Amino acid sequence: MSDKPEKFFDENGMRLDGRRVDEIRPMTVEMGVLTRADGSCYLEWGNNKVLAAVYGPRELHPRRLQRPGEALVRYRYNMAAFSVEDRIRPGPSRRSTEISKVSGEAFEPVVMKQFYPSAVIDVFAEVLQADAGTRTAAINAATLALVDAGIPMKGLVAACAVGKVDGQLVLDLNKPEDNYGDADLPIAMTEDGDITLLQMDGNLTAEEISKGIEMVREGCEQIFAIQKAALLERFGTAEEEEILEDAELQAELMSEEEEVSEAAEEEDAVEESEDLEAAETEDPEDVEVEEAEAMFEEDVTEFEVNEGECEEAAAEVNEEDIASEPEGEESTEEEGEKYEQ
Ligand code: CDP
Repeated sequence: MSDKPEKFFDENGMRLDGRRVDEIRPMTVEMGVLTRADGSCYLEWGNNKVLAAVYGPRELHPRRLQRPGEALVRYRYNMAAFSVEDRIRPGPSRRSTEISKVSGEAFEPVVMKQFYPSAVIDVFAEVLQADAGTRTAAINAATLALVDAGIPMKGLVAACAVGKVDGQLVLDLNKPEDNYGDADLPIAMTEDGDITLLQMDGNLTAEEISKGIEMVREGCEQIFAIQKAALLERFGTAEEEEILEDAELQAELMSEEEEVSEAAEEEDAVEESEDLEAAETEDPEDVEVEEAEAMFEEDVTEFEVNEGECEEAAAEVNEEDIASEPEGEESTEEEGEKYEQ
C-alpha cells in the first residue's frame, strides 16, 4: 500500500489528482464488448477498469431457487487476482459476498422482474484494475450491460462515493483518499433520485451525510449523462443520427441564409440611399427631357403596333374578296393595293 500523503489538498484547494472537491474522475464506457454474453459493458473510471456481463433471462437451475412470479437477479462482484497491489486470493470473500448482495439490491426498483417468472438474470462484475470506488464503478457498468442485454428497466442506476479527508467532503474518492480518509460513503440511485444503495465506512455527522448525498446527486447526474451518451452510440439508429445531422445542417444553413439576407438587405439599403442621393443631385430639367424621350418611345411603339394591325386587317379583307370574286373575273394588283389603302 502506498504511503499516506502529507496533505490531500494543494494551496489552491485542489486534490492530489488535480480535481475539485466536487469533481468525479474521468469516465469512459463501451457497450457490447463481449460476443457470448447477452449484454456487456467495459468501463474505466480514473484508474478503475471494470467489465460487466449479463446472461439471461434464462431458465434457473436448481428449480427450487425459482421465483414463481418474477425473475431472480443474481449479481456477482469479483476482483481479479491481479487487480490490486497485493494479489487477491481467487474466489468469493466476505467482502465480495457483501458487495454482491448490496449491489444486486441496488437494481431492485428498476429491473422489471415480473416479465420473466421463474427465470434468472445473471450479472457479473469483474474488477480488472482497482483504484478505489470499484463497487460504484461496477454498478455503473452493470446498468449498461443490463440495458445491452435488453432487460426491461424503469430507468438507469448510477453510483458514486463521497468521503471526508482533512475534514473536507470530497466526491468520488481516489485511492489515497479512500485508504487514509476519515469516511467513505458509496451511494447508488435511480434517475428519479431514489437511493438504492447506501453504505458507510468511517464517521460523518448527520449534516455531512446530507451534504454528501447532495454531492453524490450531482455526480450521478453526470454519470447518467455519460451512460445515455453510450446508449445513443450503441443503439441510436442511422435515422436518428441523420436527424441530428440534418438538424445541425439546417441550423448551419439557416444561419448562412440569415447572413446572406442580412448582407442583401444591407446592399439594398446602400443602393436605395445611392438612388436617393442621385435623385437629389439630378437636374430637374434633365429628368423632364428623359421623361419626354420615354413618352416618345412609347408612342412610336404604339404606332408600330397599330400599323401592324392595319396590315393584318387589310390582308384578311383581301383574302375574303378573292374568295368571293365571281368566276372569270380576276382581281388586279392595283385593286389589291386599293383595299390596303
Ligand atoms: O473499491 P471500493 O471503494 O468499492 O471498496 P473498498 O473496500 O472501499 O476498497 C477500496 C480500495 O482498496 C479498492 O478499490 C482497492 O483499490 C483496494 N483494495 C485492495 O487493495 N485490496 C483488497 N483486498 C480490497 C480493496
